[in-house]
Amino acid sequence: MTLDPRAREVLQRIEGIAALPTIARRAIDLLDNPHSNVDQICAVASVDPGLVTLLLRTVNSAYFGLRSRVTSVKHALVILGIEKFRRLIVASALMQKFRGVSKAVDEAFWDHALHAAQWSKEIGRHLRLDNPDDLYICGLIHNTGHFVILLYFKSESKIIEAAVRSGAPPVRAEKDILGWTHAEIGAWLFHHWKMPEEIIESAFYHHHDLRRVKPKKDLRSSTLVVHLAAALTDIDPASGAYDYDEKLEKTFRSHEGLLALQDIDAVKLSDEVSAACEAVRKIFAKS
Ligand SMILES: [Fe+2]
Repeated sequence: MTLDPRAREVLQRIEGIAALPTIARRAIDLLDNPHSNVDQICAVASVDPGLVTLLLRTVNSAYFGLRSRVTSVKHALVILGIEKFRRLIVASALMQKFRGVSKAVDEAFWDHALHAAQWSKEIGRHLRLDNPDDLYICGLIHNTGHFVILLYFKSESKIIEAAVRSGAPPVRAEKDILGWTHAEIGAWLFHHWKMPEEIIESAFYHHHDLRRVKPKKDLRSSTLVVHLAAALTDIDPASGAYDYDEKLEKTFRSHEGLLALQDIDAVKLSDEVSAACEAVRKIFAKS
């Protein structure tokens, strides 16, 4: 791939922030090592209380509806297995990494991630796709690149915001100013962290016009679900209930050619997503 000088400079800066917290990195190394055992992995993952809290919050959110709550790292590892635990620890590590700059950014990051995750899981469940809980993780972290730009490219972020205020489409403004979109930055980081292909692909395509992607048949159903979930999450509820419902229906209908959504009641599902997010927020508030 040939990069223009500006995009190359941005890549160097992204590489500089790509390191995961050391504890998560060591846990992943142990997960990848066939000679390590459950106790060793749990001992390393449990060293950082912040990471443990996020990990347990995430597993209880993704698996919300389980009769018994997951209360320990070992429990999470045993019920999830190595591959799902690996996804979970990277997702938790990056939630930890991209927080703490400002309360407003943290809240926006979490609220957006939670809604996209819940939408992804619920749409996957209604479509009877395999592993809707894995879709939860795809949705949870699909927009990571946006927060990378907000937190690590502050001056460029201001220029992008000014361009958007002047009417430029946000993704176009990112491409023009950084040479990269937030979708590309997120997908690059997930590739760097050796995340599964479905997580990389769903982040990469989440703002693409999928009708123009060729060949469309090669896109995973998880990518199509996260695309819809991202579009639904981006609808501003502050626009009023009538306007919100109208945009909701329109967004669903725009994806009917890609997913079998005909039997889904968009407004009812939206209410279910909101209720589930509220319940998850309560879990988070307690832990
Ligand atoms: Fe996005």
